[in-house]
Formats: sequence, structure tokens, C-alpha cells
Amino acid sequence: MKKLFDKTKTNQMELKNRFVRSATWEGLANPDGSCSVKLVNLMLELAKGQVGLIITSHAYINQKGQAGIRQLGIYSDQLISSYIEMVKKVHREGSKIIMQIAHAGCRSAVQLIKSQPLGPSSIEIKGCGRCREMTKNEIFQTIEDFQKAAVRAKKAGFDGIQIHAAHGYLLSQFLSPFFNKRKDEYGGSIENRARLILEILRAIRSELGKQFGVLIKLNSDDFIEGGFTQSEMVQVSAMLESAGIDAIELSGGTSLQVSNHSFSRVGEIDSKEEEVYYRDAAKLYKEKIVVPLILVGGIRSYEVAKELVEKELVDYISLCRPLIREPDLIKRWQSGNTERTTCISCNKCFVPTRAGKGIYCVVENQR
Ligand SMILES: Cc1cc2nc3c(=O)[nH]c(=O)nc-3n(C[C@H](O)[C@H](O)[C@H](O)COP(=O)(O)O)c2cc1C
Repeated sequence: MKKLFDKTKTNQMELKNRFVRSATWEGLANPDGSCSVKLVNLMLELAKGQVGLIITSHAYINQKGQAGIRQLGIYSDQLISSYIEMVKKVHREGSKIIMQIAHAGCRSAVQLIKSQPLGPSSIEIKGCGRCREMTKNEIFQTIEDFQKAAVRAKKAGFDGIQIHAAHGYLLSQFLSPFFNKRKDEYGGSIENRARLILEILRAIRSELGKQFGVLIKLNSDDFIEGGFTQSEMVQVSAMLESAGIDAIELSGGTSLQVSNHSFSRVGEIDSKEEEVYYRDAAKLYKEKIVVPLILVGGIRSYEVAKELVEKELVDYISLCRPLIREPDLIKRWQSGNTERTTCISCNKCFVPTRAGKGIYCVVENQR
């Protein structure tokens, strides 16, 4: 039977357990997007806390795709050296680390990129304004930017990369008929909407080969009327599987005001029944797809994590907010204290991050 603390191998990555730290924007990068000492220390804390696989926050692959302040960047070769120390320290603790590479598309922050955001189509999004439709050349440039970002991550020593195609950022916008109204080969059918992520995957593989870890984060559902759906997620996962992806992390929703559900839902999770936002999507995925599934969203207790793995509904358990509150949660669980995380999913961790102070849990006494 599969167990939470099994050693596993995904591509060349040997993982010491099935716990993943989901990508988390910490707002701790230097103003140019390079890695800071504070970030190195945070990653070290997570590694000491026995997280098997750490995924960095989303790092922008092009300065026109920056989403937030003090966000990590990987848009230039000059940034490579800033990551070397972080990767080494994590490896010394026996954990693996991959970089999430991203472009925010229409969700890019105008005040940071100082131009009109780009998207698959020109649409008005409440809270974001109107984005401009990408030209074909801009699409080709984006493929190259993702490819170069992956090469830089490899040079910095990362074990792999995760393509950010979830949460209403650029690649998720391309997948979603709500955002993507294009009439060319990048819009329309699901094959066309998935074309960009598949071209990015192939471009990265052609440069870095099959040995380098290439993962992706996908929405299981946009939770937007006319958006990307669960059945499309299964179709896209099958395309990614055939194209050689190493693992798929399923999430859902966006932070845009058009969505019914944010990717980080607010509200305390008091019972096991309320945990696991995307359980149904995981079931659908497992019926058709063989590539390892990393599931994120609302997983809060050891018992539920254990059941998900033992019943083979998921291969890896991914956590975000619980590890902001308790970076040593996995170590605690492993040591036998299997009490549920004290994170109450209030999202107040966004407050200091957005204010440029860097992430921390602001809630002092819980339970
Ligand atoms: C402060 C904060 C920052 C986040 N940053 C990212 C990010 O950079 N990339 C990403 O894919 N998801 C990001 N997320 C979403 C999480 O990775 C995760 O999908 C979501 O919070 C649900 O998991 P949870 O219930 O364990 O928190 C962020 C969430 C929070 C709360």
C-alpha cells in the first residue's frame, strides 16, 4: 500500500516523502526579482521541516509578466547566481526544489510592468482593466522566454521546473474559453487552447532533454461561467501525458473578481468532510491519467492526507497555507503528533505580503 512517507522517484527526482510545498508568493525577493537571504532561510526552514519537494513561488519569465511586488524573477541570466545558495541549502537537508515559472498575462500588475498587460484576447477584467491580445510573435517570444527560464533554473541547480498554467494567469487564460476568444490556432477547440502549453513543454524538453523534471500546475476547473472545466482538464492532462510531462498538480479557481472561487478559499475547515477542494476532479483524473498527481487545496489533516494516498486518489499531497503557519508541520506529523494544522485558511497571510513586508502568519492564537 502507498504511504505518506514512502520514498518515490519522479523522473530523476528522488523524493523522501509524498509532501509538497505548493508554490507560494512570499513577497521576499529583491526588487529586481533575485533571490534574497530571507528567502534562502525560508526555504531552508521548509526543508528542515521535512517537506519532500519544495516549489518556489511563481517566478516571472518576462518583465511584462510580473504579477506582484517582491516577486521572484527568472527573466535574465544575471539572476541565476542568486538562486544557487538556496538550492544547495535545500539539497543538504535531503529535500528537492523546483522553480515555478510564470507569466501573469492580463493579471500582470500595470504599476510594475508600466504598460498594458497582454492576454490571449483583449478583454476587460474587473480589477485588472483591459488587456491587449498577444500577437503571434509575442506568443513565440513567450515560448522562448519559458524555455530560457527553464534553462536558467537548471543552471542554478534546481531539480526541475513547474509551468504555472493555473489560477487565471497567462497560460490558464489561454486554456480558458472565458479569456481566450482567439480565432487562430491558439483559440477555439481545446486542442488549440492547449497548444501554447504543449509548445512550451516541447521547447523545454528539446533544450533540456528527458532527464530534467518538468511539471505543471493546472486548474481542475476555473469556477467561471464559460471557463475551463473538469472534463477539459482531463483532456489536457492526457495531452500533457503523451507529450512527456513528469507530474501534474491540480488546483482550481482564480483570484480575479469574475470567479466564484479563489484558488485559496477563505473559511476555516473544521471537519474532514470539508477538506480537499478538488476531490472529484482527482477521481476523474485518476480514471484516465497515469502521470503522478499532486493535489493541492484545502488539505488540512494527517488522516485525510493519509487516506488520499492510501486509497491511491493522489500521489503527492501539496500544501500552501498550512506551511506558512507551520513550516515544520511535516516533521511534526512524522514525529507522531498528527494533530490537524492550526492554519484557519483566513488568507491574512496575503496582507503583509501585499504590503511589501514579506509573508508570515499574522494570526497569533488559533484554537
Ligand atoms: C500567500 C499565497 C501566495 C500564493 N502564491 C502562489 C504562487 O506563487 N503560485 C501558485 O501556483 N499558487 C500560489 N498560491 C496558491 C497555493 O499554491 C495553493 O494552490 C492554494 O493556497 C490552495 O492550497 P492551500 O489550501 O493548501 O492553501 C498562493 C497562495 C497563497 C495563500
